[in-house]
This record gives sequence, structure tokens and C-alpha cells, in this order.
Amino acid sequence: MNHEPTGTVAIVYESMFGSTRRIGEAIAEGLGAGQQVTLIPVRDAHSLPDDLSVLIVGAPTHAHGLSRPESRVDAVKWAANEQMDLELEPEFDAPGIREWLKQYEPQVARHVAFDTRVDMPRIFTGSAAAAIDRRMSKLGSRRLAEPMSFLVDRNSHLEAGEIDRAKRWGAELAAALAPTAAH
Ligand SMILES: Cc1cc2nc3c(=O)[nH]c(=O)nc-3n(C[C@H](O)[C@H](O)[C@H](O)COP(=O)(O)O)c2cc1C
Repeated sequence: MNHEPTGTVAIVYESMFGSTRRIGEAIAEGLGAGQQVTLIPVRDAHSLPDDLSVLIVGAPTHAHGLSRPESRVDAVKWAANEQMDLELEPEFDAPGIREWLKQYEPQVARHVAFDTRVDMPRIFTGSAAAAIDRRMSKLGSRRLAEPMSFLVDRNSHLEAGEIDRAKRWGAELAAALAPTAAH
């Protein structure tokens, strides 16, 4: 895949229980009407828009980094635990962002990474966004903004205020993408 920086913002996300999807939707909303935005679950991300301006990639943090097939099996077990009150996303059994980055090696000019992770100091939680950012940088992409984490509680439900924070972050990204901010 090869893409020049011009128009569309693509948000490719992985989500087991819906939190990362909801954050992706809020970022898309925050990016605003001034941006052409497409939100793509990773299982459908076989190609990216030709006029891509920035690729935003998001994933849940599993075992300190990106999910693996084994951690996704564990997630299915979590969903079977009624006390956690979790519902699996329709794409729960699709490959994750780790596999997607490996298989497609998206060649883009600019990227931004985000994740969802538990609301504890990052040294204890790890960060899928950090792994995405490293991988995209290795593929030759320039980071438009620092990787960002959105927080869930111990039962994997988004903390209060995180949807609004994601909308605000989307608006900040739109400002960074504005022609006057381009370098
Ligand atoms: C198997 C498994 C391992 C996890 N490991 C971590 C972890 O190391 N650090 C962390 O912050 N959260 C961890 N979590 C919590 C996830 O980050 C949380 O489920 C996720 O943010 C929810 O997003 P989703 O609804 O989009 O899947 C783990 C979750 C699962 C299912």
C-alpha cells in the first residue's frame, strides 16, 4: 500500500469489547466536518483510501502491548464472565492490529496511534499505542502526534469522560492537519 498525504483520514481499529471502537468513533466525531474521515474495523482494512492524509491506528492493550491470538482467546473468556458485563464485538475473532501491521505494512506519510488500557500508571499496564507507533515509525511514517491512551476500569469499561476526551483529541488532530499547520 502506498499513499500520499492529501485528503482522507482513515482510522483503523481493533476492539474486543467495544471500548476502542467507541474511542475511534469519538475521534472521528472530534475530527469534525472539515475532514473526510473513514472508520475501518481491522478485519475490513484490506485497502486504504488513495488520498490518505493520515492513518490513525488504535487497539486495546493486551499483556502490555498489542493483542495476540492467545490474548484474544482470553478476552472471549472474560466476556463469558457475567460479572464483568462485557459484550464481544462482531469482529472479535478477526486478526488484530499486530497481524495487520505485519501483513499489510502500510506505507503512509503520517500516522497517529491510540490505545485503550487500564487506568493505572503506564509502567504497570504497558501500551498498545506505543507498539503501534514504533511499528509505523519503522515502516517510514512520521508521527503527527504523540501516541494517546484512553482509560478503562478493571472490568474493561471506559472511564467517565474518556469519550469527550477522545472528541477533543480528534479536534486537536484536525487542527494539526489544517493547511496552516502543515510543515
Ligand atoms: C487478555 C487480556 C489482557 C489484557 N492485558 C492488559 C494489559 O496488559 N494492560 C492493560 O492496561 N490492559 C489490559 N487489558 C485490558 C484491555 O486493555 C481492555 O480490555 C481494553 O482496553 C478494552 O478495549 P476493547 O473493548 O476495545 O477491547 C487486557 C485485556 C485482556 C482481555
